[in-house]
Amino acid sequence: MLNPKIWPKTATRREGVIRIGDCSVKAIAAKYGTPIFVLDELDLLERATYWRDQLQGVFGEKSHQVYFAAKSFISVEVAKLIAEIGIGIDVCTGGELAVARAANFPGERIEMHGNNKSEAEIASAIDYRVATIVVDSLQEITRIARIAHEKGRVQGVMIRLNPGVEAHTHEFIKTAHEDVKFGFSIASGAAWDAIMEISKHETLKLVGVHTHIGSQIFSDEAFRETAVRLLGFLARYKAEFGVELPELNIGGGVGIAYTDADEPISAAQLLTSLKKVIASECNKLGLNFPQISVEPGRAIIGPSMVTIYRVGTTKEVRLEDGKTRLYVSVDGGMSDNIRPALYSADYSIALANRESTTQLRDCRIVGKHCESGDIIIDSVELASDIAPGDLLVVPATGAYGRSMASNYNHQPRPGVISVANGAARTILRTETERDLLALDVVEAATPMGDE
Ligand code: LLP
Repeated sequence: MLNPKIWPKTATRREGVIRIGDCSVKAIAAKYGTPIFVLDELDLLERATYWRDQLQGVFGEKSHQVYFAAKSFISVEVAKLIAEIGIGIDVCTGGELAVARAANFPGERIEMHGNNKSEAEIASAIDYRVATIVVDSLQEITRIARIAHEKGRVQGVMIRLNPGVEAHTHEFIKTAHEDVKFGFSIASGAAWDAIMEISKHETLKLVGVHTHIGSQIFSDEAFRETAVRLLGFLARYKAEFGVELPELNIGGGVGIAYTDADEPISAAQLLTSLKKVIASECNKLGLNFPQISVEPGRAIIGPSMVTIYRVGTTKEVRLEDGKTRLYVSVDGGMSDNIRPALYSADYSIALANRESTTQLRDCRIVGKHCESGDIIIDSVELASDIAPGDLLVVPATGAYGRSMASNYNHQPRPGVISVANGAARTILRTETERDLLALDVVEAATPMGDE
């Protein structure tokens, strides 16, 4: 059984073979090679639409924007699909903005983040008329104000606040406890200093507050506490300036299921619970209900993609306790999915080209890289007759899979094939050795002089 909580909407098994978008993974692997990412286009459209409709449904005229977090995955074709649904996009580098631009993504639905945006990145965001730039340091405030002035523009900005909330997730993907590089701490007074700095510049228009507390979060608790702290800050703003800031952006971070054990919160549950707490706080503080935005990345694209690998070798390894473990090596690994090595992330996996009736045995699924830590799944029960040539599919690899892929060991990064209604198309091609070698340069040395 392919658990619908983990697998994309159209995933099925027919005559033993897994199909996505009504295309068999055998056919996809034969045509495009492995490893390869497969995007279930209908699944992506449905999830993006669901978030759009939930925000509108729950907050009504107080819903501002769902910004899809481009860092989770972006390509020109995906940016076009997202644009058509009518939601926005959040970018945090010039590169992500370049993809949005290549897709003609409307600037008024783009928000730019980042704790160290370069002058060039700020300039191109202003040139492209992005709706808001989220400021993250005092120097950046003066930098954006100056560049906007040079361009004769007034730039909408939000302030990234650090509410000092502990999200219950992996240490490396928490972003709002006090000791982090992101945002202006509310508690320490840094946030207020930033507000005063922004207010000095006529070329900046402060439209609201923003935060992002972490990623792969399963409960609404930390989000609710965050909303309370942000509203407290908005109340202080009103008390000092006599006007209210209109927007409150709660960021992304909503978790998804990678294994049967995961029980994520739905957008409907989270947004409804947030609405309640925001309404009661606004009431208490004498504030108008603000315009609400969110920035889900993983919850939109994570479950929409799977990775197909081909088994290359299997190896019995004798363990100290006398037992043996079957190591199953596939043709990708930490270069296309760094999350297990980086965050001890768990994934599920299925034998995809056939079903087997042989008994199950404990396997460790590993990649082809020169690292013992190149493990995709530490321990999983798979058919004991698993053999070279078999296809394995890992679901829920859409977020932070291809986007964090590397060329470690000079492994070409896998492409992305979009599938729907029995047809497949490449939306990001697999790199070739030629692509890898294209960066090598033979050049005579230039004297550098002293600076
Ligand atoms: N907004 C901001 C400002 C962010 O920094 C992020 C993610 C998001 C939205 C989207 O978060 P999501 O809804 O996708 O959780 N590489 C890690 C996740 C790092 C997330 C960084 N920021 C991982 O693979 O789990």
